[in-house]
Amino acid sequence: MATLIDRMCLQLVLVLSIYLGMTQAVDRTNFKTCQQSAFCSRQRALRPGQSSYRALLDTLELSDSRLTLQLLNNNKVRLLLELYRLQGNITRVKINELKPIKPRYEVPDVLITEPQTEPMSVVAQDERGVVLSLGGEDRRLYVNAQPFRLDIMEGQVLLLSINSQGLLAFEHLRLRKDTISHKITSTVASMWDKIKTVFSSSKDQTDPEEAGRTEDTQRNNEDEETEVDQPGMWEETFKSHADTKPNGPSSISLDFSLPGVEHVYGLPEHADSLQLKNTDGGDPYRLYNLDVFQYELSNPMALYGAVPVLISHNTHRTMGLFWLNTAETWVDISSRQDPAQVPQTDVRWISESGIIDVFLMLGPKPADVFSQYASLTGTQAFPPLSSLAYHQSRWNYNNQEDVASVDRGFDEHDIPYDFIWLDIEHTDGKRYFTWDKKNFPQPKDMLQGLMDKRRKMVTIVDPHIKVDSSFKIHSEIRSKGFYIKNKDGGDYEGWCWPGNAGYPDFTNPEMRSWWSSMFAYDQYEGSMENLYTWNDMNEPSVFNGPEVTMHKDALHGPWEHRDLHNLYGLYVQMATAEGQIRRSGGLERPFVLSRSFFAGSQRYGAVWTGDNAAEWGHLKVSIPMCLSLSLVGISFCGADVGGFFKTPGTELLVRWYQAGAYQPFFRSHAHLDTPRREPWLFGPDNMALIREAVRQRYALLPYWYLQFYHAHRTGQPVMRALWVEYPHDVSTFSIDDEYLIGRDLLVHPVTDERSTGVNVYLPGDGEVWYDVHTFQRHEGAQNLHIPVTMSTIPVFQRGGSIICRKNRVRRSSSCMENDPFTLYVALDPQGNAEGELYIDDGHTFKHETDRQFIQRRLRFTANTLSSSDLSPDSQFPTASWVEKVFILGAQKPKGVTLTTGGAVSSVEFEFDPVTAVVTLRKPDVNAGVDWTIQLQ
Ligand code: NOJ
Repeated sequence: MATLIDRMCLQLVLVLSIYLGMTQAVDRTNFKTCQQSAFCSRQRALRPGQSSYRALLDTLELSDSRLTLQLLNNNKVRLLLELYRLQGNITRVKINELKPIKPRYEVPDVLITEPQTEPMSVVAQDERGVVLSLGGEDRRLYVNAQPFRLDIMEGQVLLLSINSQGLLAFEHLRLRKDTISHKITSTVASMWDKIKTVFSSSKDQTDPEEAGRTEDTQRNNEDEETEVDQPGMWEETFKSHADTKPNGPSSISLDFSLPGVEHVYGLPEHADSLQLKNTDGGDPYRLYNLDVFQYELSNPMALYGAVPVLISHNTHRTMGLFWLNTAETWVDISSRQDPAQVPQTDVRWISESGIIDVFLMLGPKPADVFSQYASLTGTQAFPPLSSLAYHQSRWNYNNQEDVASVDRGFDEHDIPYDFIWLDIEHTDGKRYFTWDKKNFPQPKDMLQGLMDKRRKMVTIVDPHIKVDSSFKIHSEIRSKGFYIKNKDGGDYEGWCWPGNAGYPDFTNPEMRSWWSSMFAYDQYEGSMENLYTWNDMNEPSVFNGPEVTMHKDALHGPWEHRDLHNLYGLYVQMATAEGQIRRSGGLERPFVLSRSFFAGSQRYGAVWTGDNAAEWGHLKVSIPMCLSLSLVGISFCGADVGGFFKTPGTELLVRWYQAGAYQPFFRSHAHLDTPRREPWLFGPDNMALIREAVRQRYALLPYWYLQFYHAHRTGQPVMRALWVEYPHDVSTFSIDDEYLIGRDLLVHPVTDERSTGVNVYLPGDGEVWYDVHTFQRHEGAQNLHIPVTMSTIPVFQRGGSIICRKNRVRRSSSCMENDPFTLYVALDPQGNAEGELYIDDGHTFKHETDRQFIQRRLRFTANTLSSSDLSPDSQFPTASWVEKVFILGAQKPKGVTLTTGGAVSSVEFEFDPVTAVVTLRKPDVNAGVDWTIQLQ
């Protein structure tokens, strides 16, 4: 016993030393390679063509919208293939064991609803296979019987093939052949029944009875005589951690070939380029939510979150593959580079358990893939406007006086901010939902002080709960049986910030509902309406667990942690967001930041890229990391400004603020051991540069808010890779040091030390772009060298667009609520431009429930600028007005008149012949009404 405790202490010391910054780079030995992961190495040993499944055509059944067929290979275990045609040009392919000895995990709660199907019909059938019509432009699905293969064709064009490499592999559930297996045989059924009664599994799960277990238990016993066990099938160890696998091997794999494709993207989260790389010869991209200390750049190692979506793109078509599986997953990518052949990318997915459930999102345009994915997993939550403003954080602000003095500092230095954050030290001994009595004795006074200034606070609430019988949260979770269990049925315990901790089972809907109720004002003592939440360590992080996470054989009711690991973080954020909604009686929009995520997390708030470092490479990689997330639905993304570990030099810090000001989630944050970083600590010049970057963010908030409104309504990303808007321009396909915000702003942050210029690619043949600071006009479809000084943030507005800003920057975004707008009308070469203005109360759901919002179309054509109602059945009273208009790329008018409500008045204007800019002063018309401005 003593030795076990010694070992645990040693491990804890090691992990804590890691956390407290005593080593300097990722310790790769803490994390598995594919070779060290038994299922990955077994699967990867399977070479193309070795899995010889055939489809049994005589088992084919076709209902209106579902085709089923059985698949078989020489292990005689039948698989059931299900094919569905879904609304919106999506095909779903499911493969499961026909009769598993017990159910395999099917992912609940990620799809927003059961997808709508569309009719499919058999076009042709013979002994070679069957051809199904998928509707649309002659889209067909070919099921080839032997070997089993699926091909999707549009006309004569092959869009993708499944199992063309013959890498379908399905490790069926089986019973162990050694002596204990007989014991297991007799208990499998009774165990399952017992578990079923204590845990109400989601309705998505198959009923075990349906699986015909008795018959198949016998069937599997027979088959197993011929199959040889391989290492790691029934247990494996990694470092000192044993992983018992009572269910034995259960991994799955399938390959997809994408002819004509050279560029693939997605699969976050990795600290790597936007374009995915070939994994031949290296490790596959790994999707397994992990707390990786001091992560390295440019490698496929797993990080905190996982979205198993891959996007392929070429000049003809964009498609997406969504592999709905929450177990540890590895993805191999192999692109054929031979110039003599048609390019092709092969993708192979390998997961440890669950079933094959894949959605083929057939595009054809990038925007179609985004809507297809949104139709499955939902769209970005529409955040409170203030959460798009600037957030000031560090680990930690020490006490109430510290908070008050930082708050004052921002006012004294005239820098706006909306949220101040409290990290784990604010709690009473890392007991979340509590306050340290000495340092935060009057949390409500503190929150009221912030509220008086129309500012807000975020406190951290992590999902590891201190095991302490006097701690209410712990004792309630324990008494309600809400903790995750270890393999022996006791409460699972692991080490995290509070020391010994339990981990609530967020997969249990009852537990989630209870957790949500803890955010009620009378439960979370000291909380107020301006207090929001940060969920950290929700991979979950377990300092003394295998790979710093939970043992895979821990139990969530009937399911092993292995089955659903990647979903845990999503559930934590879901329950927290729900808690904030509930505390407000359903009125207020929540704001929750999460470190871990999965497909669908966009519905619950924001994410950030975790513990980066104060290095130029980390500043650079924040762009592709957030772009990858944006491609797969998660728009509200940011990186710790300044870098979490280490100390940024002033140049890096300034450049990071400048970049962060143009990324969706804008928060500075720093490690406990780093020197303080409030902007005024770096001398007046640097502070002025930081202030200017933050002020640019505030001025642009109306545009950010509009982009989030659209992301929420349509699923289109806020931050966009250039190829998303210029899908035919191959020179955009590999760009990941610049990006678009919406369609109309192009940003190329300075991410190099001592930079004197950046090379910007401005896309769009026949288009023009305007430097937002100088109004200088540039032609599209060219590379441009832009000289920079320390104050330059290279940002360009697309000719043909209208952007609204609020230039009277105040101490917080709420203080700017009724402020006037300035319109930036950037003319295209034909002299036209178009944009939108969206206004609502900024924080409630009334835009949805009561249609309380303003959405206006702004248009400039034939020398007339007009504002018209885009949503006549909605209304919202606004006091904001239009105080100024810049028209870029214009000619000098003779006079300017404003017409509104039947009245005509003249408008003051100026013309600058050098920049070709007309400035209209004080049209002073309300932002919510119809008006036109005519340039004569
Ligand atoms: C890890 C998080 O990534 C970091 O941002 C936070 O400051 C520490 N945990 C302490 O809570």
